[in-house]
Amino acid sequence: MFPTQRPRRLRRTAALRSLVAESSLVAGDLVAPLFVAEGVSEPRAIASLPGHVQHGVDSLRREVSALAALGVGAVILFGVPEVKDDLGSGAWNENGVTQVALRALRDEVGDAVVVMADLCLDEYTSHGHCGVLRGDGEVDNDATLELYQRTAIAQVAAGAAVVAPSGMMDGQVAAIRRALDGSGYQDTVILAYAAKYASALYGPFRDAVGVEIVGGGDRRGYQQDVRNRREALREARLDVDEGADIVMVKPAMTNLDVLSDLRRALDVPLCAYHVSGEYAMIKAAGERGWIDAPTVALEQLSALRRAGADFILTYFAHELAEDLAR
Ligand code: PBG
Repeated sequence: MFPTQRPRRLRRTAALRSLVAESSLVAGDLVAPLFVAEGVSEPRAIASLPGHVQHGVDSLRREVSALAALGVGAVILFGVPEVKDDLGSGAWNENGVTQVALRALRDEVGDAVVVMADLCLDEYTSHGHCGVLRGDGEVDNDATLELYQRTAIAQVAAGAAVVAPSGMMDGQVAAIRRALDGSGYQDTVILAYAAKYASALYGPFRDAVGVEIVGGGDRRGYQQDVRNRREALREARLDVDEGADIVMVKPAMTNLDVLSDLRRALDVPLCAYHVSGEYAMIKAAGERGWIDAPTVALEQLSALRRAGADFILTYFAHELAEDLAR
């Protein structure tokens, strides 16, 4: 007549729900993506990423101090250079925008917050691809590795505690690990974008960094095919074997299965990247009053923790950390 099993008992009060919660979300689990543009004095708004800007060095310092005060775990920098070229030389130039910003942050926050640098060439190449091009227009995997090595060394010399290769070239983690170790940077952490899918959800990010791929091209020749699941495990295992300290899955919400697979198969920390398009969709629907945006954001980020992510890169980092501090 009456049920004996009553799971609802544990949901009666907020205190009980909190006590039995299987996962948690705290500011220290969040990484804030930040854009720093060369030659910018006043922050420039990014239309498709409401609440985000292209920082100049001064506003970047202030933002990172604020994030550190809120207890946000880390920041990851993306540079927007004034001039691009075929090789993307701004990526490793010691006076390139990311290196200048990294030195400023080392001075501003030291090790109080983990400072990460996205390691790729697409923001710096005139053609918008993540590597150098061969004569036939294809991305040259092995020639690109050498440029990633230079970029890694430049970023770490400028103060990056973590480098995060995002270009999906084969062998990139091994190449970067070798270069760092050879330069005395054995302690630098590599956060590998291990399972990174070719996705239309990166649209707002490409606006933010001013990247357009030449000839209307795409990245399907090096980023993963969304139809594949097993392949993600293969990619992640390769990265761990090559020396990755942490592996990442990206985008996040379309890859909960992958997060769950990697959590079970690997014992390194796992990170999910809730990408620009995922943020923009929530913001846009929230602005129209169609959904309660902060609550939806919390639901999605909690689902990522539940699926196995130890920490999350998200454009919600600042506002969520403020909400959590209340
Ligand atoms: C490549 C890179 C991209 C993102 C992070 N690193 C763009 C791409 O692969 O086209 C996208 C992140 C986002 O959408 O938030 N440097």
